[in-house]
Amino acid sequence: MKSFFENDAVELTPDGKELIILDQTLLPNQEKYIHITTAEQLFYAITLLKVRGSHAIGISAALGLAMCMNRFETNDLRVLEKEFLRVKKYLAISRPSAVDLFTDLNRMESCFYEQMSAAEESGEAIDRIKDRLTAEARNIKLEKIKTCLAIAEYGFGLMKPGACIMTYCNAGHLAVSRYGTALGPIFLAQENGYMPKVFVCETRPLLQGARLTAYELGKAGVDATLICDNMASIVMSRKKVDMIFVGADTVAANGDVVNKVGTSGLAILAQHYGVPFYVLCPSQTIDSNRPTGFDVKIEERPGYEVTEMYFEKPSAPIGTKVYNPAFDVTPASMITGIITENGISK
Ligand code: MRU
Repeated sequence: MKSFFENDAVELTPDGKELIILDQTLLPNQEKYIHITTAEQLFYAITLLKVRGSHAIGISAALGLAMCMNRFETNDLRVLEKEFLRVKKYLAISRPSAVDLFTDLNRMESCFYEQMSAAEESGEAIDRIKDRLTAEARNIKLEKIKTCLAIAEYGFGLMKPGACIMTYCNAGHLAVSRYGTALGPIFLAQENGYMPKVFVCETRPLLQGARLTAYELGKAGVDATLICDNMASIVMSRKKVDMIFVGADTVAANGDVVNKVGTSGLAILAQHYGVPFYVLCPSQTIDSNRPTGFDVKIEERPGYEVTEMYFEKPSAPIGTKVYNPAFDVTPASMITGIITENGISK
């Protein structure tokens, strides 16, 4: 499958000392890559959603942690360990709802301690630990990309030529790197001449559907129609929608799905209209430590995202009280299937 972006959404330079990120806040108007060289810059890039999407957040945290170690000068293993743990802890509080961030950072920590004990036994140089950390972070990214290809194949298997899919938020190239999760089967269908049609929900308040998904599908030449989120019901009742594909930030042990706020409303509508509702994500996104979706912390974001962010002038009276949860929980009972690299499970 081909990617329609010239570069990956998140990339480490060959020397491992800079992280290059496509600034998603500027899309669709500008495709600008930013160079990140400190933990603080990465922290703000994640919290301000310059890099966003659960899997891209995990990838950038792992690559960023390796980058920070590569730039840190010391010959003392204990000093390196202290800095590693500081950066890891700091990046881990950037966003709370996507499990990939924690899993990928923990995997980096396991790698660090494996290399550290090897170094203590053999007197290996610190540079070797840094190389191993860099290789581990690159593997995390490559594994996710490979996983997305398998997810795309399974999702594509559900589609017939001319299939009409509704999607929410952005779970494509930008949310992972290259193919994406929920958009992967659509790209594959397009490549195979199936001419899929897609209804893209704009996804208030930050418009990931309008700004990012419509942009990605447009690049791939997919027949995409943008709708406001509150139009999903009339579209499902009047048009042919064969199925809904969404991504996930965390899947709880009981199959509840935490995804962009508004996903659960779409699932309720889908159940009402009898439209199959699929969640596509790597198996890594299933968190066995969270019994239900209500055990996942839901990020609350600032009110100005609702009243000002994408408007020339405030869209509500100054001082209006705003509630802005970034995610919601879709109960497992409303989900037709969860598609991972291992297949489709209910
Ligand atoms: O706040 P965001 O834009 O990082 O949220 C992303 C999502 O919730 C996406 O819908 C997605 O499914 C998870 S990323 C593949």
